[in-house]
Amino acid sequence: MHTVDETLLDFVAAQQRRHDAKSCLTERKGKGHFGTPAEIATFMAGMFPKLPTGTIRILDPGAGVGTLSAALCDRIARLKQPRKVNVEAWENDAGLLPFLAQTMSECRDVLESRGHEFWFTLRTDDFILANAHRPLFGKVSTDRFDLVITNPPYFKLRKETEHARAMSHVVHGQPNIYALFLAVSADLLRDDGYLVAITPRSYFSGPYFQRFRRWFFDRLTPRHIHLFESRTAAFRDDAVLQENVILGAQKCSERADVTVTVSDGRDLSPSGLQRRALSYSQVIDDPKGDCIVRVSGNDVDQQIVDAIDRLPTRFRDSGLEISTGPVVHFRATEFLLDDKINSDMASAPLLWMHNVRPFVTNFSARRNGKEAHIKVCEKSHSILLRAKRYVGVDPIV
Ligand SMILES: C[S@@+](CC[C@H](N)C(=O)[O-])C[C@H]1O[C@@H](n2cnc3c(N)ncnc32)[C@H](O)[C@@H]1O
Repeated sequence: MHTVDETLLDFVAAQQRRHDAKSCLTERKGKGHFGTPAEIATFMAGMFPKLPTGTIRILDPGAGVGTLSAALCDRIARLKQPRKVNVEAWENDAGLLPFLAQTMSECRDVLESRGHEFWFTLRTDDFILANAHRPLFGKVSTDRFDLVITNPPYFKLRKETEHARAMSHVVHGQPNIYALFLAVSADLLRDDGYLVAITPRSYFSGPYFQRFRRWFFDRLTPRHIHLFESRTAAFRDDAVLQENVILGAQKCSERADVTVTVSDGRDLSPSGLQRRALSYSQVIDDPKGDCIVRVSGNDVDQQIVDAIDRLPTRFRDSGLEISTGPVVHFRATEFLLDDKINSDMASAPLLWMHNVRPFVTNFSARRNGKEAHIKVCEKSHSILLRAKRYVGVDPIV
């Protein structure tokens, strides 16, 4: 007989490896599949502040091989008081279903061997399309979930796709499917229910996600936000994690302090975490209705945020605009020029982060394979900036 420690997490990690060995990375990327590593899944399961007594209804949308449900079942298996666990897992990739079904059976065996009861339902249809059309939004339903644990798929959707149209109340511009997963999950959660989701950090700010943020944070209150900060970034996976965030949020309107934890890459042991508490209004910045989520990972970042907040006006009110540069390297390759400039061709210097040094802008020749000039022509006009005064900011200086 396995111990609880070995059974579920080792089992599910092996399931993920078996699945990955049978599929290729490009195929997985196309479907938005990125399996959660076991240690992160365990951490996410631990982020639910308390587990309901009696029956626990769990939703796992975009379940993959079932890693997140398994991590939560692993936590429940250790509870002394028996629970009735009901998992609904949604996965529309037929290649993953046999793995997911086996994981659910394993969860049942482990939970039953420890005196709990377990049921599961596998839903193989499209999570967004199946739920967006249900007469749920804004209405009372009895079959809602106590807990949602999710690592939703990530990919951009064109705004005319069926998914985007079905969810037009949260979509603006080009949506990313993960935001739609979060919105449907929030809707399926019962009042006071709790959601834990690992996603890209992109929805925290920016106009594309503004409508989504407004909708989502009007319903859910953030309680715990985890940031990955890899000081070494030695592994590609850790670099990917740095762009991700884990949100723990409750479906309620009561606003309290938000716990922020920061880990160095994947070291999620309590001793490897920095932990701090921020007030709700430090985290949700909403005076202009933008509902921006600001999470400073350390005291210096927070001091900068506080200093900006103390300014009497916003940058916009003083006629200042902030923007990232309009040239996106891989989309502009036809206009980029090396150092050697053909004198017949009009060109402008191209400003990279490495050109921005403290208090000087240092235009240099091509460096690290990065072109130093850009063609000035009719087609490139939309990505050129007028010659006027700018302040360059390099976020990693
Ligand atoms: C990022 S993976 C996460 C898998 C798993 N939850 C984990 O944490 O390891 C997202 C999963 O969502 C599935 N998926 C993508 N679109 C879906 C949809 N519209 N409905 C249901 N599942 C979907 C993908 O096949 C993929 O397995």
